[in-house]
Amino acid sequence: MKSTITLTDNRTNKSYEFDILEATRGPDVFDISSLYSKTGLFTYDNGYSSTANCKSTITFIDGPKGELRYRGHEIEELVSNHSYLEVCYLLLNSKLPNERQLKEFDLELRHRSLLHENLRHLFAAFPAGAHPMATLSAATAALSTFYYDHLTLSTEEDYQEMARRILAKMPTLAAFAYRHSIGAPFIHPDIDKCFSENFLFMIRAYPGGKLHRNIDGENKIKDIEVKALDAIFSLHADHEQNASTATVRSVASTGAHPYVAISAGISALWGRAHGGANESVIAQLEMIGSVENVDKYIAKAKDPDDPFRLMGFGHRVYKNFDPRARVLKGLQDQLKDELELDSRLMKIAHRIEEIALSDEYFIKRNLYPNIDFYSGIIFTALGIPKSMFTPMFVIGRTVGWITQWIESKKDTSMKITRPRQLYLGE
Ligand code: CMC
Repeated sequence: MKSTITLTDNRTNKSYEFDILEATRGPDVFDISSLYSKTGLFTYDNGYSSTANCKSTITFIDGPKGELRYRGHEIEELVSNHSYLEVCYLLLNSKLPNERQLKEFDLELRHRSLLHENLRHLFAAFPAGAHPMATLSAATAALSTFYYDHLTLSTEEDYQEMARRILAKMPTLAAFAYRHSIGAPFIHPDIDKCFSENFLFMIRAYPGGKLHRNIDGENKIKDIEVKALDAIFSLHADHEQNASTATVRSVASTGAHPYVAISAGISALWGRAHGGANESVIAQLEMIGSVENVDKYIAKAKDPDDPFRLMGFGHRVYKNFDPRARVLKGLQDQLKDELELDSRLMKIAHRIEEIALSDEYFIKRNLYPNIDFYSGIIFTALGIPKSMFTPMFVIGRTVGWITQWIESKKDTSMKITRPRQLYLGE
């Protein structure tokens, strides 16, 4: 039997029935697309806290439980047993790759990681010191001019090739954006290196492909660094309908080029309430400066008249520990013996966490540490500068955005995103 819900307008006593659509996991939804035609009313849902904007089979989050799954696989299992490229393959193809498929996928990404020479010149247009997020968003939009034919994709292979292309190029774009921001010469990708190692290489290398030296020789990229970065990329790979993904879908709904949609996603991610929080967390820990000052800042965060917020705390969906944060906290513990994690910042972070997890203000509002609370300390230990934290998020998330873009394109019932308003003007 069809499940329905009945709404009654108490002004007129008229009732209206709407279909309930069943979810395979998580809350069911009721379909209000006919609400206006039936009732003459809109809904008001500030920030879309109760609105599903699409049907999806990609990522599932259980906020109250603190659970995250990609294509049905738990994030903890994926990070423990699979590489980032396997996760990318899973998101794009709905199944994990076999050995041969993974090799082919990896090889293709290595080949596609180069940028067109003309695109390189674009970076010169930006001022010295330009923030890499601004440059990255612009360069990604510019990429659409080189692959204009992606505007009219029709076959599955077309979609997948377009996705592999942007996936392969994003680390190069991000590395170029960074090197431009510090006035360093660009380092091209090295086909002998895997995805995550290649990124560290493009950030760190000297022209000619040599790495920094100390008196004992070259500072080689360590396996543990590559593994840590790979895990961080997997944790960022997708997160269902967050602000930047919803932006990508919105742009997709107008029929714009996929890389322009990704560029819009990058811009949406930059804000401090979203991906920009990872840069703000470290800036905030540095501002707090010492464990003795933590109480003062906790008090500021709790003061309703003070706009100060604890960066890296709270989440629209998670009302429990963010599972990505749990994995990263474990990773931090593993890394502390092998990499130089900033012990002063870790102590401050630890104290904040300790107080917040036992303080009534945070408990009552279900404010737990999120992914951004822990990622910055690990990024710093990997030698990644603060201005690159959010671009790191971009590299990891590109696969999620493009997978969601493809899903939205294949949904023949998808309409242009066009919300309504409650008009209160004259
Ligand atoms: N510090 C202090 N108070 C907070 C915080 C915080 N970080 N986050 C939320 N609150 C309070 C807020 O003041 C409000 O209190 P009250 O009910 O008394 O008015 C209550 O908690 C609910 O906050 P909200 O702003 O209505 O919650 P939201 O779901 O709209 O916002 C959020 C979610 C992530 C934007 C917010 O928690 C925040 O600004 N956090 C800090 C920024 C941050 O860490 N962002 C990264 C999110 S995870 C990465 C990603 O996926 O984007």
